[in-house]
Amino acid sequence: MSRVTVLLLALSLSAAQNFSTWSPPGPGDVRSPCPGLNSLANHGFLPHNGKGLTVPILIKALNDGMNVGADFATVIGGAGLLSVPGNLLATSFDLDNLDEHNFPIEHDASLSRADCYENNGDNYSFNQTIFDTVLAYYDGMNETSIQVAAKAKYNRVTTEEKRDPKFTYTPQQFILSYGETALYISVMGDPIYGVAPIEYVKIFFEQERLPYAEGWRPPTTQTNLLTLGDMILALNAANGEEIPEGLEITTNTLKLAFGGYDPITGLLSHAL
Ligand code: HEM
Repeated sequence: MSRVTVLLLALSLSAAQNFSTWSPPGPGDVRSPCPGLNSLANHGFLPHNGKGLTVPILIKALNDGMNVGADFATVIGGAGLLSVPGNLLATSFDLDNLDEHNFPIEHDASLSRADCYENNGDNYSFNQTIFDTVLAYYDGMNETSIQVAAKAKYNRVTTEEKRDPKFTYTPQQFILSYGETALYISVMGDPIYGVAPIEYVKIFFEQERLPYAEGWRPPTTQTNLLTLGDMILALNAANGEEIPEGLEITTNTLKLAFGGYDPITGLLSHAL
C-alpha cells in the first residue's frame, strides 16, 4: 500500500469517526447558544472542550461537518473573535464567549433559547418549552419548508416583543435571526429548498448531534453567503415581516451582520 493510500485511508477513517463519534460536554468543557457549533464540538470537528477556536479551525470544521462555506465561516468567525471580553485583537475564542447578550451575535427571540432578561441571564441553554413553540408549526409534517420555518421564526419575534420588556431587535439581529433559520433548514436539509426531515432538526437542536446514524449526510450543495442571502429573502417574503427601514439584504449586508457590524451603518455597536 502506498503512503498516499495509507494517508487517504486514515483521513477517511477519521472523518467517519467524527460523524459517528459523539459525546456530550464533560467537566471543564464549554458550549455556546449555537446548536451548530455545539454539535460540531460534540462530534470532535471542533475541539471537544470548546476552547481555542480560530478562524482556520472553524473553516475546516464547518466544511467537513456540514458543507458550510469558508466565506460564512470567515465572517462569523470574525464576530466570534470580537466576543472575547476585553481583547479586540484576540485570535481565538471559546464557545462560552458567545453568550454575551446583544454582542456581537447572541440576541433575543431565539428559536431554542430563552431571552436573556426573561430567564435570569441564561440565554444559552437549550430550552425545550421555547423550541416546542417552533415545532408546533410543523405539526403533522415530516419535513420543514421555507413557508412554515418563516412563520415559526416570526412568531418568536412577536411573542418576545410582547412579553420581554428589554426586547431588542436591530437590523443586525433581523439578519442574524433569519440567517439562523436559514442555517438549520439548509444544513439539515438543503440550502436551496430548505426541506429537512423534522426528525433531523429535532436531533440537531435537542441533542446537539448530527443525525448520521439516522441517515443524514452533509448536503451536497454548499451553504454559503449566496445561498443564505437567497434563503433569507425567501423566508422574509414568506412571512411578510416588514424589513427594517434602510436595510437591504445583499451579500455585503450579510457580511456586516454576520461579522458583528450594523448592516446599515457598517459600525460596530454594542446594542443595549
Ligand atoms: C455549521 C455552521 C453553523 C450552523 C448550522 C449554525 C446554526 C445556528 C442556529 C440554527 C442558531 C439559532 C439557535 C436558536 O435560535 O435557538 C444559531 C445561533 C447562534 N450561532 Fe450558529 N451556526 C453555525 C455556525 C456558527 C458560528 C461559526 C458561530 C460563531 C463563531 C455561530 C454563533 C452563533 C451564536 C452566538 C448563536 C446564538 C444566537 C441567538 O441568540 O439565538 N454559529 N446558530
